[in-house]
Amino acid sequence: MTGRNTICKLQKKVDNKEKLVMVTAYDYASAIFAEKAGVDMILVGDSLGNVVLGYDTTIPVTMEDMLHHTKAVSRAVKEPMIVADMPYGSYEVSTEEAVRNAMRLIQEGGAQAVKLEGSQWSPLVKEMSKRGIPVMAHLGLLPQTASLWNGYKTCGRDETAAWALVEAAEAMEEAGAFAILIECVATEAAKLITEKIDLPIIGIGSSANCDGQVLVLHDLLGMSCGHTPKFVKQYAQIGEQIEQAIRTYAEEVRSGAFPDAEHSVAMAEDEAKRLY
Ligand code: KIV
Repeated sequence: MTGRNTICKLQKKVDNKEKLVMVTAYDYASAIFAEKAGVDMILVGDSLGNVVLGYDTTIPVTMEDMLHHTKAVSRAVKEPMIVADMPYGSYEVSTEEAVRNAMRLIQEGGAQAVKLEGSQWSPLVKEMSKRGIPVMAHLGLLPQTASLWNGYKTCGRDETAAWALVEAAEAMEEAGAFAILIECVATEAAKLITEKIDLPIIGIGSSANCDGQVLVLHDLLGMSCGHTPKFVKQYAQIGEQIEQAIRTYAEEVRSGAFPDAEHSVAMAEDEAKRLY
């Protein structure tokens, strides 16, 4: 145990060319396993809307949802930095509301940092940083607004788009963001951003050219219920194992094989005799 992964510790790892590992988690048990596996950062992502709450998009996820799940994760882990997503509608209305909501995720939720989506928010990131709130910027594909605007597409696929992403990342760096997550960014554009920006660049679907990677836990475990993006590598088939285990349990209940003596508590023999 070496204590919490701070911004400085994470930056040092990047300076030493160590890749940063981030994974999402939304509950106590999965956060425990993520810490045991040695991840650097846990993202309480608003992807919880898709993979845990059953919504089609992340738009319905509320501050109360985020707080509920961030609290569960923060009760579990000591070392990984916890980054909580600011959900749709929690930072767009006014700076005051955004700052208040970010502080709630840190103060009540137990996160060490927040993440928000979009290149237009560098002035807000500056305000938050001034108030001591560590912000991870999220650029590239922006799931909160993708369904409303241009859909789920790879970003930075031509020279102009690649430089636009670099400019957006520079604005976030200047504004005081401590790291940038880039989602679904073309390989060469991701390389350019990582070379040009001194902050840790965490990629998802953005090639190995980043300083670190993040994946949605349910995707990497093979237990997501909807569409699995092309960039996801499944490291297990936990969904199938869960289904099989529950199927066997159901069969054993129906056949009377479970619970057997081993999984029951018997009285002492002489005590049992007194019953009949
Ligand atoms: O909510 C989420 O899980 C994300 C992904 C891009 C990692 O933001």
